[in-house]
Amino acid sequence: MIYVDETEEKDVSDLDLAFEPKDVQVKIGKDVKEEYTLHEELGRGKFGTVYKCTEKNTGRKLAAKFIVTHRPEDRKDVEREVEIMRMLQMPRLLQLYDAFDNGHNEMCLILELIEGGELFERVISDDFCLTEKACSIFVRQICEGVEYMHSKNILHLDMKPENILCVTRTGNQIKIIDFGLARKYEPEKKLQVLFGTPEFVAPEVVNFDKVSYTTDMWSVGVICYVLLSGLSPFMGDSDLETMGNVTKAEYDFDDESFDNISDVAKDFISKLLIKDLTKRMTANESLKHPWLRKGEPKKDTKLDKTKLKRFVIRRRWQKAVNALLALKAMGATI
Ligand SMILES: Nc1ncnc2c1ncn2[C@@H]1O[C@H](COP(=O)(O)OP(=O)(O)O)[C@@H](O)[C@H]1O
Ligand SMILES: [Mg+2]
Repeated sequence: MIYVDETEEKDVSDLDLAFEPKDVQVKIGKDVKEEYTLHEELGRGKFGTVYKCTEKNTGRKLAAKFIVTHRPEDRKDVEREVEIMRMLQMPRLLQLYDAFDNGHNEMCLILELIEGGELFERVISDDFCLTEKACSIFVRQICEGVEYMHSKNILHLDMKPENILCVTRTGNQIKIIDFGLARKYEPEKKLQVLFGTPEFVAPEVVNFDKVSYTTDMWSVGVICYVLLSGLSPFMGDSDLETMGNVTKAEYDFDDESFDNISDVAKDFISKLLIKDLTKRMTANESLKHPWLRKGEPKKDTKLDKTKLKRFVIRRRWQKAVNALLALKAMGATI
């Protein structure tokens, strides 16, 4: 049985980056296979397919994220992802190693390799003991990563379980990945966005209003709610219904799953899931909340994972269905 222990949790300042920060410039017209050997698939998302790879020169193990760039806007998006990742050097955030544009509608980012798999997949496995304390240790690290990102004026805008990975199968370190939707925050410009996953996006995204730093913190609140209860606070029967629930920002802790959850954990979530984005806790404030603060006593009774398992299985299905729909949209007959 694997228990996540606070005593083995390292301070960010004690952690090393995967490699020295690299001044990555996109290599244009070059094939990634000249410099890297590709291995098995590690995962895929809406935009990218990620493989394990080895750098030929050094034997270093890394990850290669391939993104198809048919339209000029697609290339711009990947260039933005590169530019943003170049600004973020922190152990809780995925590091960029190299980048290629083959000139034939495909770009490839070479990334730090993360081998522990997605956080939610790991916590539902039978050998993992999920407690409130373990959840708070994971959420604290997420908030540390977000705090750093925000200090560099970057909004992630796609915080969701699939974008939180575990460094190893047995340790307690996590990393935030996927800067594909991230943006630089410029207060003088009105930044509106229309993307993300309805279950996790904030009311201002659904309403196409101005977004800000606390837009990410709303999503952290949803992730935290799901991690503790296995329930998705705003999930409806359709995306439209989910978005309706999000804009109302109505949710509760009435389900029996919350019977064993401490008031301080509920207080933490209720300071994030607030419709008015100016009233939500910032990443910095969240780290000072007693539920995340180091040294505060944490509840370590075992949580029932039945609902969380169901949540993960539903998301897997949804992903498979979305992939089929995308194929169909490209003209495939299924
Ligand atoms: N550096 C990495 N190491 C290991 N697995 C990764 C890495 N980057 C991504 N993955 C896996 O691939 C999936 C898709 O990658 P992601 O960057 O999120 O692409 P997308 O922008 O399409 O969502 C992730 O959810 C994760 O499971
Ligand atoms: Mg992703």
